[in-house]
Amino acid sequence: MALHPHETGDRATSPVAVRPQFIDQVTAGEVPRYRMPAGGMSPGAAYQIVHDELLLDGSARLNLATFVTTFMEDEAERLMAECAAKNMIDKDEYPQTAELEKRCVNILADLWHASAAEQATGCSTTGSSEAAMLGGLALARRWRRRRQEAGRPDDRPNLVMGANVQVCWEKFCRYFDVEPRLVPVGPDSTCLTPQAAAAACDERTVGVVAVLGSTYDGVYEPVAAIAAALDELAAGGGPDVPLHVDAASGGFVAPFLDPELVWDFRLPRVQSINASGHKFGLVYPGVGWVLWRDAAALPKELVFEVDYLGGSMPTFALNFSRPGAQVVAQYYNFLRLGREGYRRVQQECRDTADWLAGQLDQLGPFRLVSQEQGIPAVTVALADPAAAGFSVYDVSDALRAHGWLVPAYTMPPGMDDVAVLRVVVRNGFSRDLAGMLLEALVAVIDRLQGGVHSSAAARTGFHH
Ligand SMILES: Cc1ncc(COP(=O)(O)O)c(C=O)c1O
Repeated sequence: MALHPHETGDRATSPVAVRPQFIDQVTAGEVPRYRMPAGGMSPGAAYQIVHDELLLDGSARLNLATFVTTFMEDEAERLMAECAAKNMIDKDEYPQTAELEKRCVNILADLWHASAAEQATGCSTTGSSEAAMLGGLALARRWRRRRQEAGRPDDRPNLVMGANVQVCWEKFCRYFDVEPRLVPVGPDSTCLTPQAAAAACDERTVGVVAVLGSTYDGVYEPVAAIAAALDELAAGGGPDVPLHVDAASGGFVAPFLDPELVWDFRLPRVQSINASGHKFGLVYPGVGWVLWRDAAALPKELVFEVDYLGGSMPTFALNFSRPGAQVVAQYYNFLRLGREGYRRVQQECRDTADWLAGQLDQLGPFRLVSQEQGIPAVTVALADPAAAGFSVYDVSDALRAHGWLVPAYTMPPGMDDVAVLRVVVRNGFSRDLAGMLLEALVAVIDRLQGGVHSSAAARTGFHH
């Protein structure tokens, strides 16, 4: 989470505003901003203060930067509220929550084509980041064991991945002392290519990470071709390198929209897969999933059995206590939507993304960056940045004045001279909203092409 400094001096005790109607319910008469108040207050006053503070948070529906779910049905919210106090780790007290987690793991194993003969195992996590840590740890531990058994040095492990990986993989490498071997992208591909992946591997490579739905432009990396390149490397006497698929977004898209795409446990080289339940899994944050294809892919020494809470259950996690609500909500979605429901939701997102991509392509100033198959996201760059007279950062800033949050950033190393805008099309970002975004964009481009700075334009456009 964000790191915050310790506030001292006047700022630490400067009071939080309390509405006059509630001030007599505040015991100490005042609420210091960064210190615990000496006395409490009524529940109504506490609610109102917190509620008012949160008014300044943005509107999640207009935030096109995030992949994370911003809408769930009332029934799902009711279930989540019912489970707010349930601790996921306490399998003895909440055996049915554990059972629902098991059902979710099994549903995902089936969606990702785990073979019945291999006995896939998996668990829920707080999100794909924790899932990536667990997947990476399993790869590293297996590599170390193989090296020790072969009497070879087991220091300086590396993990091969495209420079377009999400930051969680760089975190994994830094936290667990693994060299991140980031393969630059471009000029012909925005993601990891099979040849580059195989070429980057050596005897110290613990695994390769392929991303199904790149964070930068949504594209699916060619998982099957990467697996084939690694097969060829091993067959030619090179290292035998396992593959992990970071399907944070694609793991809940490809099974429904691209069933013919072979990216999962159908490929023998794929040892583990992670996905975010709170992205296209359609659950509020935070829930993720990680599955290993068989017992051999998950070293036993990483699994803990704890009995402090009564009973005993094997666990693999970075956290101990965790809320059960999101796991329950994931199971609710699986029941509520079924395969056909998920397909319909994701298809709607893809149709909207395709429509928006077509419109942006025709608008003039932009070119599409992601041309290949991927998750519902649209990424564009300026067709001619030198001639445009404005940057994608100007566009992003100006869209904020219309309430839209559309991030601008540079592509990863190898293509970092290309700056892009990205719109993630999530459940709830309807065609109507996409149309409104387009109208705002047209207005913004008109102003920018007229050389009008966005904030100045916003000022002149305001009528009392
Ligand atoms: C490809 C990829 N992997 C991992 C993550 C991290 O996911 P989480 O937010 O669930 O930790 C993201 C988040 O955007 C992602 O896009």
